[in-house]
Amino acid sequence: MKKINVLSHSISLLGLSALLAGTVTATFAADKKLVVGFSQVGAESGWRTANTDSIKAEAAKRGIDLRFSDAQQKEENQIKAIRSFIAEGVDVIAFSPVVETGFEPVLQEAKKAGIPVVLSDRAVKVSDPSLYVSFLGSDFIEEGKRAGNAAVKLTGGKANIAELVGTVGSAPAIDRKKGFEEVLKSNPDMKIIMSQSGDFTRAKGKEVMEAFLKAPNAKDINLLFAHNDDMALGAIQAMEEAGIKPGVDIKIVSIDGVKGAFEAMKDGKLNVTVECNPLLGPQLFDLIEAAAAKKEVPKRVVTQEGVYEQSQAAAELPKRQY
Ligand code: AHR
Repeated sequence: MKKINVLSHSISLLGLSALLAGTVTATFAADKKLVVGFSQVGAESGWRTANTDSIKAEAAKRGIDLRFSDAQQKEENQIKAIRSFIAEGVDVIAFSPVVETGFEPVLQEAKKAGIPVVLSDRAVKVSDPSLYVSFLGSDFIEEGKRAGNAAVKLTGGKANIAELVGTVGSAPAIDRKKGFEEVLKSNPDMKIIMSQSGDFTRAKGKEVMEAFLKAPNAKDINLLFAHNDDMALGAIQAMEEAGIKPGVDIKIVSIDGVKGAFEAMKDGKLNVTVECNPLLGPQLFDLIEAAAAKKEVPKRVVTQEGVYEQSQAAAELPKRQY
């Protein structure tokens, strides 16, 4: 059985490369290609596409045999994919879990098979933290807080909020809501008056916003908090079709920082996007190669991200990579 050492502390993005630099590349047998199984959530958003591209490009650059599987937003597909990776005897399994719970049994199977597991982007809830060696991704609670603070700034602390929630049961939906609501606790005139899942997709974001705008209290909405940019972009379409000026009649705060959000900000239709970095490929494969080489890896690696307002959109847009 392979033995994995784990550092118990968290580490920032910049600290990771310093920690792993120079220690990993030489340790995996030169004649053997590293085989990695990766189970992706799906292709639900622009963020996800950029994340997939980053992972595939980095694997190709490093000459890694990447077995990539798309779960189409279904947990059962992800469990099946992980089981096939175990049966194939891959060196390392990495995945971005659709939801937080339900992975414990299959992770126990991976552990029994001696295959290290690295979590990418999203966390899982397990009773035994040794079931994965490392988790690389954003601090979603912090993103929710940043969105909450932006909402306070935009509305002077007085808002009737419509909320487009991400995929039910997913770490980003749970944590972004938690972080956002923490900010509302100290702002008693900010209230969520409508909240529904738009499953992180543009089509569902539009559909749910259309329903919000038909509610008897629709006229009270002065701020939309969307858990991702794709849902916000769908909601913008719904508002325009209903004769409402997005970004003006209803202020909009969303999360991700994809190009489409910067374009909408430049056009005055979206007010703030809180960045969530999808370009995880290089850090992910640093961790994977270290785990395969039985090096110590940090248990938690947090990506570094910013917050962007309309006034920054035109200058920032040409620099965006996703
Ligand atoms: O887990 C990250 C989230 O998943 C992104 O915010 C969203 O766009 C994606 O679908």
